Amino acid sequence: MNQSATEKLIIFDTTLRDGEQSPGASMTKEEKVRIARQLERLKVDVIEAGFAASSPGDFEAIKAVSLAVKDSTICSLARANDKDIAKAAEAIAAANSKRIHVFLATSELHMKMKLRMTREQVLEQAIQSIRFARNFTDDIEFSPEDGYRSDPEFLYQVLEAVIKEGATTINVPDTVGYAIPELYGQFILDLRNKIPNSDKAIWSVHCHNDLGLAVANSLAGVHIGGARQIECTINGLGERAGNTSLEEVVMAIKTRKDYFNLSVGTDISQIVACSKLVSQITGFVVQPNKAVVGANAFAHASGIHQDGVLKARDTYEIMRAEDVGWSANKIVLGKLSGRNAFKQRLQELGVSMESEADVNEAFARFKVLADQKAEIFDEDIMSIVSSAEQDLD
Ligand code: KIV
Ligand code: ZN
Repeated sequence: MNQSATEKLIIFDTTLRDGEQSPGASMTKEEKVRIARQLERLKVDVIEAGFAASSPGDFEAIKAVSLAVKDSTICSLARANDKDIAKAAEAIAAANSKRIHVFLATSELHMKMKLRMTREQVLEQAIQSIRFARNFTDDIEFSPEDGYRSDPEFLYQVLEAVIKEGATTINVPDTVGYAIPELYGQFILDLRNKIPNSDKAIWSVHCHNDLGLAVANSLAGVHIGGARQIECTINGLGERAGNTSLEEVVMAIKTRKDYFNLSVGTDISQIVACSKLVSQITGFVVQPNKAVVGANAFAHASGIHQDGVLKARDTYEIMRAEDVGWSANKIVLGKLSGRNAFKQRLQELGVSMESEADVNEAFARFKVLADQKAEIFDEDIMSIVSSAEQDLD
């Protein structure tokens, strides 16, 4: 595959499947449809709507999402057996564009302790499952679960065989979030180089955040390894410490296009709306300092930064709050704020002061109050101004 021209990076959102595996984040059918519609507005390429065989509720939710969404491909997860695959196929039958995502563990630990299967049995089951899935769609993804901790030699064998059988996307999960960026990137590259028919499939990364490295690992999988699909979730929701966060990887790819040279179809103006909807439905609060979607992601608190941003936003902003769906960036007034930010807020509030001396006087009062309060709100400023006016009367 030619990796030099600007290529498309496929955004595969799994908020409704892996995201729902966050303890306490389960969603009703109606809630899943609302989120899926918002993901469609965000223009994600693939929506993994659930795991059809896992429960009747999940099956119904995937069916409803398949009917409601027209523009994104709808995917259901399935274990590598006929029953699961048939259920997945039935759930996504109404979708305009459909994908079945088959997974089977390939690490020694999982095969021996969980599946109680030999390598030969796993290889055979992987092949059979793809053959069966081909009866329903040409768009088939295969994931060797715990792939990153699997013996590469065995992975070469399994992945070559499933590609030969018709798998069109090969996803390499770091199921337990054990990877380190450079090593994971190299791991994907080695797979692509060693497997003779690797260019017949799109390579995908699926990283968990147990060490806080999911986004970094995914980006390394893309940049070093040549993967062209990232699996991710809104707000980084997901099993245990979560998955790669969609807003972070998308904004990294967009903001550093100079480095990644990839295009994504995501409509980034929908990012904040997506984040808020998922947070509201799941009850998972977004931490204030979370990149892109946290309440403080575009807030400036120190006087030096505020002064810089008021003069030229690029001084302390690499992205625009408005581009991802915030109404504006935020100058937070507090004890670190400077006179310039204070004066600007007075103007925004329609307060005009007679002289610079009056501004200085009000600013001094502001500083006294700011030492007592974490944040100074507009009402505080108005009361500072009116008490200054009363003193003059
Ligand atoms: O983390 C994982 O291994 C998964 C697979 C089912 C893709 O979620
Ligand atoms: Zn996962």
